[in-house]
Parts: sequence; structure tokens; C-alpha cells
Amino acid sequence: MHHDWWKSATVYQIYPKSFNDTNGDGIGDINGIIEKLDYIKTLGADVLWLTPMYRSPQNDNGYDISDYYRLQPEFGTMDDLRRLFNEAHKRNLKIVMDIVVNHTSTAHHWFQEALKGKNNPYRDYYIWRDPGENGGAPNNWQSKFGGSAWAYDVKSNQYYLHLYDVSQADLNWENKHVRDEVYKMMNFWLDQGSDGFRLDVINNISKDQRFPDDHDPSSPGDGRPFYTDGPRVHDYLHEMNQQVFRKRAETLTVGEMSSTTIDNCIRYTNPKYGELSMVFTFHHLKVDYPNGQKWALGTLHLPDLKKVMADWQKGMHDGGGWNALFWCNHDQPRIVSRFGDEGEYRVISAKMLATTLHLMQGTPYVYQGEELGMTNPNFSSLDQYRDIETLNAYKLLKKQGKSEAEIMAVLQQKSRDNGRTPMQWEAGKNGGFTTGTPWIPLATNAQTVNAALALEDPDSVFHYYRKLIGLRKEFSVIRDGDFELIAPEHPDIFAYVRSSGGKQLLVVSNFTNRSVPFSVPKAFLNVKHTLLIHNYPDALHFTACLPLRPYESAAYLLN
Ligand code: NOJ
Repeated sequence: MHHDWWKSATVYQIYPKSFNDTNGDGIGDINGIIEKLDYIKTLGADVLWLTPMYRSPQNDNGYDISDYYRLQPEFGTMDDLRRLFNEAHKRNLKIVMDIVVNHTSTAHHWFQEALKGKNNPYRDYYIWRDPGENGGAPNNWQSKFGGSAWAYDVKSNQYYLHLYDVSQADLNWENKHVRDEVYKMMNFWLDQGSDGFRLDVINNISKDQRFPDDHDPSSPGDGRPFYTDGPRVHDYLHEMNQQVFRKRAETLTVGEMSSTTIDNCIRYTNPKYGELSMVFTFHHLKVDYPNGQKWALGTLHLPDLKKVMADWQKGMHDGGGWNALFWCNHDQPRIVSRFGDEGEYRVISAKMLATTLHLMQGTPYVYQGEELGMTNPNFSSLDQYRDIETLNAYKLLKKQGKSEAEIMAVLQQKSRDNGRTPMQWEAGKNGGFTTGTPWIPLATNAQTVNAALALEDPDSVFHYYRKLIGLRKEFSVIRDGDFELIAPEHPDIFAYVRSSGGKQLLVVSNFTNRSVPFSVPKAFLNVKHTLLIHNYPDALHFTACLPLRPYESAAYLLN
């Protein structure tokens, strides 16, 4: 196997809590994942990414880890996990574990020790500072989940940093013992059978040690310029590479990068720097944030999305880096509800979005249920929500004087719980997810949107994803081609061409619920064209002016 095998692979993301419950406690489990490995194999994915299942108070659904070496009992035992590794490997599926090392839970024994006092050897595992000049927080940095990023410890009269929830204390990566503990733990999981890692918010680990106030006019003022892609992050990731990944050349590593830049991501992923395999970035999923605000209703202006995606496609290609391609994950609303149509055109628009993304350069990630065209649940009351970020946002919006109806509309569009409702396996009770009471309600459309129906229907979203996953393996232009956006300012059509080795791939997608004509550039007209994939049952004849129907999408091989 070649060391960059993942360039033609597709990853399937599992959020275990909402995937498949086999013991009736309303929470998905490892045995539930094992039960569905053949389903994932049928889809054609090559790798599974499992979000965290370690010991955790579950304040942030497992991203608050209290023990890196043990599992949260609801998910199962180490024996179950070993069985999952074995069963996956038997099917030629690889497993990527989620590593959260920007922070630990405050319930972690390192933090509990650190709380004992300034002289405790674990004190320096975290980031402590004296109060600021006004006696309050050391600086004006804000938590990503709202409020100050500093929490006060009365006993020592110091503050600790938490870029996320108050129960998620940031680790001090300046401390060599911390780094060594992290590498030891990662090697442990590789020894257990993990084939790689997804690294949570990894570009935030190196903080500017001056900890200045953020008055940067180009920043939201929350401190991010002083820890995003911070001063020593590349040194740390290179060190991690040498201590962990280098020994096993096939390891897949994907770093989650918040608010990053193309230049940094080239550095993170171009093999000559010896850091990671690929990166998740989020600029394309912020284009519908009005004035950069997440918690406000937004609409998509297509040219903005096209520009971000084209810049990253070209920049990473030219710089020898590698993108992860994704629309959905456990932190995002469902894409069909967001950029597509969850009503009449649900199936067609889900396929259109899949075509647009999967034929770009990078490694595609399919988030559980995306392959069914699952939608947002459109919850109508606060008690249906579970997510800590959503509940914090509710309080902040309330404080700003927003009405209940306004807040509910924003949560329906933006909450992370939109992507966390249980997987819809079949039309029966709880969509076949659990025989008990699900930890979070299901969307109400499991009767019609479910895996059992999708598997039977050759025209389903599922089988369309299966086809796209197969095309990536068959046509090297999808893996290697460069990227050129066509008609960048067109308000409705997303069209691009990929080229390599004398082959070209033309992709056109209508992002609206109207018919829109698309003028094919002259250069593509007098060449042989083969339709590779198309989301309408009847043919789309290749002409100078393609009459694209609502959400119609097609890809042609030209040569
Ligand atoms: C990113 C994870 O995907 C998200 O779910 C989590 O809340 C934050 N990192 C903090 O760990």
C-alpha cells in the first residue's frame, strides 16, 4: 500500500452517540458500529472516523476527555473496541480515532492535581495566569462557546485558560512533559490498531506567550490572532510526526484547523514539511454567516462559496498540500437543509451537493446520514436541544433581547444538534436507532428518509454517493487534476473544470430550485465528452447552452 493511499479514499464519519444503539439505553455504542460495518462497506468508504469515546463527563459530548486510555462505559469496553478494529480490518476498512489535545476535561486527573496548588508538578500542564491589572481576567480573550476564556480559581488567585467550555482547560504545549504524554498516548492507540487520527482544533495548541489583549481590527476581538496557527504550532506538529507517525508511514492524519490560512495549511500537509496528511478548514461553511456572526439567520450568496472553494482548491494544489472535502460533520447543520432543498428537491439537491464536492481535489468525508440526504430536525422547543454551545447561545441571544421565536428560528438553522439527531435506519420505532428512549429526539421524517429504503432504491442518494466514491478510484483526474472555476460571478451555477494528463473533467451544478441555462465555454464544445454522473433520471444533452433544471448537476469527461 502506498503511503498516500488516502488520496483516492473516502472517509465515513461516525458520531457513535447517535449511530446505532444495541443495548436499549438510548445511546449508540461500539457493538452498534460493528453491526453496521457491512452497510459502510456497501457504500464503498475506506476509512471510519470515530468521534471521541474516551472517559468524559460528556459536557461537550466527549470532546472533554478525563482519561485518554479508557472508554466511556456507555459506548462499550476495550474488548468491544478491539473487536471493532478486527472486524473493520477484516473488511479492509481503516479506523481513525479522534484525538483532543488542545484541552482536557477539568475532571482529568492532571487538572485535579493542578488545582492542588502552584507547586504541584501538574500545575504547569495547563495555562495559568494572575489576574489582569483591573483584578479581573488576564486578558480580553473570549471562549468559542461564549463568555471570557478565563476561569478563576479562588484557592490560588489565578485564572486558567479555556478556549472552549469552562470544563475544557487548555493544555500547556510549551511544557515538554505534556507533549511527551500526548505522543505516548497516540502511540498507545496505534498499538491498539488505530490507523490514524483526527486532531481536534490542533492549530490552536500554541499560544502567544505574551497573552496580549486582542485589539486587532481584523479579528472578531476574541484573541484568535494570538493562538490560531500560533508561534510554535508547526514545530509541535513536526515533533508529533517524528515521535508518532513517522514510524508507521501509512498513518492517516487529519488536523481540524479553525480560522486558518492556505499558507499554513500547505505547511501542515505538504509532505516535505513532515506534519499531517490533510486538513479540515471551515471558511466555506462560514459564507452564510452574516457579518461573520454564527448565531444569526443567513442565506447563501453562491459566488462567495465558489470563491472560497476555488481559492483553497488552487492554493493547496499549487502548494502541494492536501484538503479534506466535507459539507457535514457533527458541528454543522445538514447540508441539504442548508445549501439544498429539504422539501420537493431533497434527493436531487443532495446529489447535486455531493457531485459538486466529491469531484474536487482532496479526500471526501461523508458524515453519517449525509448519504441518505438526512435533514435538520427543525426542533421547535429548547428542551429538544442538548448541545452546550447551543444552550450557551440561547442565553446570550436572550440577553441581547431577542424574542423566543427569533431565537428558535436561529437555532433551527445553526445548532450543532441539527447534525446530531439519530441515524435513520428504517421506518420503525425511533428509526431503528434504539429500542429505548433516544438521548436526543429524531427528525420526524425517518418514515421516508432511511437506510432501508435507500438501499433498495437504485436511484437513492445512497447509491449516488456509492457511485461518486467509486469514480474517485477509477479516474485519476479526480485525484490529481488542477482546478479552474468557470463563470465565478454566476449567481446560480457552480461550474469548474479539473485537468491532468490531457484529460479534463467538467462539473456543472445548478444551486437553485429554478431552471437556469448555462453557456458552456467554447473550448469545451468540440471535444469528445462522456457523461460520468448525473442526478436526473433522463439525459442532459451536451449543448452550447445547457438547460439545467432545478438543482441539476452533471459531470463530463472531456478528451
Ligand atoms: C471541535 C469539535 O468538532 C467540537 O465538537 C468540539 O466542541 C470542539 N472542537 C472543542 O473540542
